[in-house]
Amino acid sequence: MAVHLVDHPLVHDALAILRDKRTAPDEFRRVATRISVLLATEALRDVPMAAGAVETPLGPADARRMASEVVVVPVLRAGLGMLDAVLALVPSARVGYIGLQRDERTAVASQYYSKLPDGLGNAYVLMIDPMLATGGSASAAIDLLRRAGARRVRIVCIVAAPEGVAFVERDHPDVVIYTPVVDSHLNAQKYIVPGLGDFGDRLYGTL
Ligand code: PRP
Ligand code: URA
Repeated sequence: MAVHLVDHPLVHDALAILRDKRTAPDEFRRVATRISVLLATEALRDVPMAAGAVETPLGPADARRMASEVVVVPVLRAGLGMLDAVLALVPSARVGYIGLQRDERTAVASQYYSKLPDGLGNAYVLMIDPMLATGGSASAAIDLLRRAGARRVRIVCIVAAPEGVAFVERDHPDVVIYTPVVDSHLNAQKYIVPGLGDFGDRLYGTL
């Protein structure tokens, strides 16, 4: 139940470009946005709706509108590569930020920044972070969201590892992870194999 696999030809086509080591940062950024639109659309599928009405030029029509506030929370820095996509889908969304950095040697994440909107308790919270590797960053970010009052949290990522899925499932069994794939394993440096490398570095050209 923890993983919702988003299986769509457009998603896999975009993922192939992101995985390709020859993809340069400018294209990487464009494709990261494209795949994020598709993933976030799926993650927002069960946002509560309210029935109403609207006048078309030809008369009244039933209309359904989103009845829950959406808050999107990118995990810095790589999560920023998915933010424009979500804001294009939900322009009214408020944005919270969580800064986490994995130690290069131990792969343990530590927090360096957090700024979250209030009123998270009634919001539909989309946490966006493209890579779910050990799951340490995601779990720490959800802890923070919970402490700030968030109740309904979804994770949207682009590549997940089995280890990260298991970690999140153990610590936060009610949180659903939206991802196109769960890859094979982590290597000794805790990078996802085959993965796509370091997402933040490829996004911003800091390789
Ligand atoms: C990457 C990625 C996740 C985290 C995943 O961020 O964006 O936040 O690693 O790894 P984990 O599941 O093992 O915690 P990183 O810490 O490299 O920082 P960056 O986004 O600033 O590049
Ligand atoms: N962070 C990344 O950017 N890539 C990985 O494979 C693991 C963590």
